[in-house]
Amino acid sequence: MTYTRCCTVRKIRRLLATDLDGTFVGDEDGLRELLRHYDSLQEPVALVYVTGRHRKSADGLIREEGLPAPDILITDVGTAVFTGPGLEEDEVWKEKMSGGWRPDAVAEAARGIPGLSRQDLPDDRRVSFYSDGPAPAEALHERLSGESIPHTFIFSSGRDVDILPEGGGKGEALRYVLGQYVEAGAEILVAGDSGNDRDMLLIGHPAVIVSNAQPELAEIAAREGLFRATRPCAGGILEAWRHFYG
Ligand code: GLC
Ligand code: MG
Repeated sequence: MTYTRCCTVRKIRRLLATDLDGTFVGDEDGLRELLRHYDSLQEPVALVYVTGRHRKSADGLIREEGLPAPDILITDVGTAVFTGPGLEEDEVWKEKMSGGWRPDAVAEAARGIPGLSRQDLPDDRRVSFYSDGPAPAEALHERLSGESIPHTFIFSSGRDVDILPEGGGKGEALRYVLGQYVEAGAEILVAGDSGNDRDMLLIGHPAVIVSNAQPELAEIAAREGLFRATRPCAGGILEAWRHFYG
């Protein structure tokens, strides 16, 4: 897919912050349409991918799907931020995520909870599980809170449980990135389809929930600046972009 990347040297004035699976990726025709629209604009739109995947997995998806290289990449449900032409890890964010983080205590708290299996991940910047429905996830949440183990709890798609450091999550990571790289008054759109996108959809910028979203996003209250698309995936992003910015 052809798409001209933004220059990240000066501050960004237009930006799409989007989840990948089920949002930016999932409807190839819609994605082509969105990228064609962006290519036709005078002022480029910087791309920030905000994914639950780990870095290698995100790179694999970008390659397999032929996605444009992002200007900024946020992985591991907002616990890692990569910037610059080589997409190097942001050490300030990494440091912030390691404060008070006790992955071993999280793993220990999960022991013996039936229906919870640990995801195999390359590192322990987050501790994630597959949950057999919501009950095992909730049991873990209660234990972590009961034992005062610092954490952020995220449940998505009726199955994925992400335990993140306190202050982690897609919303906090995106807020950090916007503060560093984006001009005040920039045109911003945030896009997502599942529970791990909830906090970034709620940080206060124009946001779109694509039509194929998971039921857990149905509860988000209607507000000005929150657009519910009638189209799935990237087609829904385009619909919202036109709604907000023409
Ligand atoms: C992606 C990740 C998985 C995570 C899930 C929800 O599927 O691969 O590790 O639990 O997103 O955030
Ligand atoms: Mg998704």
